[in-house]
Amino acid sequence: MSVSTVSFGAWAIGGFWGPVDDGESVQALHAAIDSGVNFIDTADVYGDGRSERLIAQLRRERPGETIWVATKAGRRLDTQTADGYTRENLTQWVDDSLRNLDVDTLDLLQLHCPHPDVYDRPEVFGILDDLVSAGKLRYYGVSVETVDEARRAIRYPNVQSVQIIFNMLRLKPADEFFPFAAATGVGVIARVPLASGLLTGKMHSGSRFADDDHRAFNREGERFDKGETFSGVPYDVALEVVADLRMLCPPGMTLAQFALRWILMSPDVTCAIPGAKTAQQARENAAAADLDDLSPAVMAQVRQLYDARVRKVVHAQW
Ligand SMILES: NC(=O)c1ccc[n+]([C@@H]2O[C@H](COP(=O)([O-])OP(=O)(O)OC[C@H]3O[C@@H](n4cnc5c(N)ncnc54)[C@H](OP(=O)(O)O)[C@@H]3O)[C@@H](O)[C@H]2O)c1
Repeated sequence: MSVSTVSFGAWAIGGFWGPVDDGESVQALHAAIDSGVNFIDTADVYGDGRSERLIAQLRRERPGETIWVATKAGRRLDTQTADGYTRENLTQWVDDSLRNLDVDTLDLLQLHCPHPDVYDRPEVFGILDDLVSAGKLRYYGVSVETVDEARRAIRYPNVQSVQIIFNMLRLKPADEFFPFAAATGVGVIARVPLASGLLTGKMHSGSRFADDDHRAFNREGERFDKGETFSGVPYDVALEVVADLRMLCPPGMTLAQFALRWILMSPDVTCAIPGAKTAQQARENAAAADLDDLSPAVMAQVRQLYDARVRKVVHAQW
């Protein structure tokens, strides 16, 4: 698969991000494809299939166009345990995604931040190999929480991709995982590239979020890993850092585009998958793929900011 460097993350159009309108979500998907995006990341649990079904609708409305879709499985377990990754469960989750996406084969299935013990269970990866042989999966990969998990995942030779949080507030993967991914030829999918919207610069101390938006209910990890919300950086710390990043943003690009362009400066990243709820957001994000490179001086200043202000609150945890 040859995928767009700025692709599309379809969590927000499924659920847990406040109210969303399906018509507007489909318009956002179309705007992304019109802007050169050819790869969409989703999961079975995003709105209990809602996100996958909207993507199926998009594909029906664009016959003949190449639109790769990565989905995920594993989060339908009530409690994360390695024992939950049985042949029966994995087959059921894959069959449900095939039905929601209205396809015979999934382009890429990712284990969805599985229990850490799964990485020591070769039999789980053997089941995925069997699902490839059965024609239900074209490829499989893993979405991970930590750099350590990423390195453990790529010991399995048929893991084709690793999805990991990588953005201006999360630099560790560049230092401690990307060299390993490059050496094995594994694709790197950079998720949460805008730190849940923080890196667009639109948030402030008085910003309010709907009750069913994880930015209201998961800041301390109440429902899932707190790193998935604002990258796990305390909100007040992140706002201060974003104010400094604003000063580094080159003219001619928005802060969101600066954040995405910064990710693409890492040659080992296959793509970033910013979420978008509207056509305007999708277009703005996709346009980052065509912007000029950032200067070495700006890259160094972003790293200095991370080392001085952010490293201490995230580096050891993920
Ligand atoms: N465990 C996992 O595997 C996992 C976990 C998290 C994410 N992901 C994947 O990674 C993707 C990206 O991460 P994410 O969606 O969590 O976070 P993100 O991409 O950092 O932030 C997305 C949110 O930022 C806001 N936004 C996006 N573009 C904008 C723009 N140009 N201007 C202003 N606001 C903008 C939108 O929300 P508002 O308009 O409401 O602010 C959007 O939903 C997800 O969609 C999902 O596919 C996977």
